[in-house]
Amino acid sequence: MIHEMPRQILNEKYAKIVALCFMWGCVAQGIIAGILLAIVFKEDVIPYVGYYLLVVGGTIALFAFMTRLLVKRKSIHMAVRVPVIFWLCVVTGAGIVGLYFTVPKFTSQYFTAGPRLTWATGQDPSSAITASWVTTFPGDSVVRYGMSRGNLNGTFSVSGSTRFHHVALTGLAANTTYYYQVFGFPVKQFTTAPSGAFNYTFTAWADHRTNTDITISFVQPNIVEGMSALMATDGIDPAFSFFCGDLTSQAYDFLGWETWFKDTSFADWSVNRSLQIAFGNHERAGDPDKTVVKQFYPYTQQGDGHFYYSFNYGLAHFIVLDPYLVNHDWASNFTAEQLAWLEADLAAHSGDTYKMVFMHPPPRNLPEIKLDMARLSVQYGIDLVIAGHQHEYRLVTANGTKYMTIGLGGNPNSHFTGTPCDTAFVRVDVSPVNLHVLARFTNGTVLGNFTIPA
Ligand SMILES: [Fe+2]
Repeated sequence: MIHEMPRQILNEKYAKIVALCFMWGCVAQGIIAGILLAIVFKEDVIPYVGYYLLVVGGTIALFAFMTRLLVKRKSIHMAVRVPVIFWLCVVTGAGIVGLYFTVPKFTSQYFTAGPRLTWATGQDPSSAITASWVTTFPGDSVVRYGMSRGNLNGTFSVSGSTRFHHVALTGLAANTTYYYQVFGFPVKQFTTAPSGAFNYTFTAWADHRTNTDITISFVQPNIVEGMSALMATDGIDPAFSFFCGDLTSQAYDFLGWETWFKDTSFADWSVNRSLQIAFGNHERAGDPDKTVVKQFYPYTQQGDGHFYYSFNYGLAHFIVLDPYLVNHDWASNFTAEQLAWLEADLAAHSGDTYKMVFMHPPPRNLPEIKLDMARLSVQYGIDLVIAGHQHEYRLVTANGTKYMTIGLGGNPNSHFTGTPCDTAFVRVDVSPVNLHVLARFTNGTVLGNFTIPA
């Protein structure tokens, strides 16, 4: 007995130390798993499963190690108590990791984003525009507007309570500046398109920095800041802009959406002028019904499930295409419906001075689309096609059409530029004489510079 007591005390003391090690081990694993999860926070469920397995697997290994020690020292008392403590630590550690990542995942969708403008499907830029915004809680959709900042005496509204607001402002006068306001945000403004022949400039970019991973936004610049600065240096206030797809990592990446709206609101870029979207593959990934893009943007989902539309601004006809196949994540050709629409649209606008097409995937990578575009270009004359998807700058001329890829909106993944400046965009000056196309990095370095005659 005298001999046994010190040994038991020693066993229990040792077991307590081991138990403490387990506890801190679990906490450390939770932290490591959290860091790893943050790094790969771009997919939906798979990383969670992987790193939960990491946490649980690691703690089971520790559990086996501890049990072996305790059994060796025959401390049955501690061999029962410590596993209980251990499992509490496992559950707590896994719970901390789970809460850390799943709570933001669920709550991140309840963000607020101020008003922004776009021409919804079928709207004429000289007489209509749509204001969209997001609220954390459902509410009314009301836009007050007027001809001066201090006298917003008109109202447009949509009935029903929603978080995703889209209000069309219609019956507007051409070439007129209007002021508008939605509840909770400052007064903003826009100018409707003039009629006839006039000079103006628009810009286009694709593959934003939120393209594949929200963490990229911490290290990559917001191209909208760069565009805004460079256009200010040029002394030009663009009339509107295009974004050619991939604005988040996936449909349900709401942190990506929130960042996208913040980025594009910089200096009122998409707030005081229209931003037209050609959707990419990323913002619809994991969302076959396109529910999320429909919540955030007012474009009509056509009969083939896609979002294609066209409009005129001055002398130019603009066509936004969406070459996905139904129920496919990626394109290989146009649906018959979309191709028929495109041909009819080009035929109806064959007399327009310029015809420009915007789409996410470059046609050169898609043989059937390339053939369709070539045939239609020969028949109707398409001046310029701007696409993204490939994170590169490329210019190809075929059948008199300039095909430009400019997927350099800030995602550094697979950039082929070999330059330290990652963000580039296109500026297009439209005049009755010609189109002048200038592709530049936001540091001013020129990628391409050419003219297309009227
Ligand atoms: Fe893409």
